[in-house]
Amino acid sequence: MRRPFIAANWKMNKTIPETKGFVNEFILAVKDVASTDIVIAPPFTSLSTASELIRGTGIKLAAQDVFYEEKGAFTGEISPVMLLDSGCSYVIIGHSERRQYFGESDEIINKKIKASRKNALGVIFCIGESLEQREAGKTFDVLKQEIENGLRDVVMENIVIAYEPIWAIGTGRTASPEQAQEAHAYIRSRLRVLYGNKSEEICIIYGGSATPENIDSLMACPDVDGALVGGASLKPESFTRIVRFRKAEGK
Ligand code: PGA
Repeated sequence: MRRPFIAANWKMNKTIPETKGFVNEFILAVKDVASTDIVIAPPFTSLSTASELIRGTGIKLAAQDVFYEEKGAFTGEISPVMLLDSGCSYVIIGHSERRQYFGESDEIINKKIKASRKNALGVIFCIGESLEQREAGKTFDVLKQEIENGLRDVVMENIVIAYEPIWAIGTGRTASPEQAQEAHAYIRSRLRVLYGNKSEEICIIYGGSATPENIDSLMACPDVDGALVGGASLKPESFTRIVRFRKAEGK
């Protein structure tokens, strides 16, 4: 049985005082939630503060990026060891904003995943097609390529896959439950080719304008195991409602 996995991706939002305000309120709001993995990914500058505040709760911490070297002359970069040191148990890798604005290739992403796993950091690995690719009927090709390249020589352990169609990110245009299920089932079929029956245990979460209004229908899809939430994770009450999604019968 896969446990639901709901993660907040704050992107470049929240100062340290804002992080404190959010986390203090959020901890109380979700303290009785035991059956869902809850993760928050603040910016680097707020990691240590968030880590102190969530200690002793079930909430886990993620960073939004990492570099693949362990230390050295890489000005501005942060290593997996430093993230562990700051209290992270996960890191988001391959987000489309990093691919788009910072030129991250599948090869770099693969190196980041390997370096993170070598240091026992869990990975939230993002993949997804652009609108142009979807309209050209290339969605599955893009997903197949991103999976194969990103996971090359990677042992499948403590890795969550986030399907994030680029056209749905920050646009208010969510994938329909049917579109999400179709993509997630395809991703699982590719993971089966690479990892056999283990693919049934891998969490595949959806990202792209997930909100309190659409979370229940997305989570009702058999292959949607959670969500990576951007905009709607910035307010404690809206992220709480997402964490407290209503379970569909039989799931
Ligand atoms: P969004 O972002 O929920 O604001 O669309 C999701 C993401 O980019 O992870």
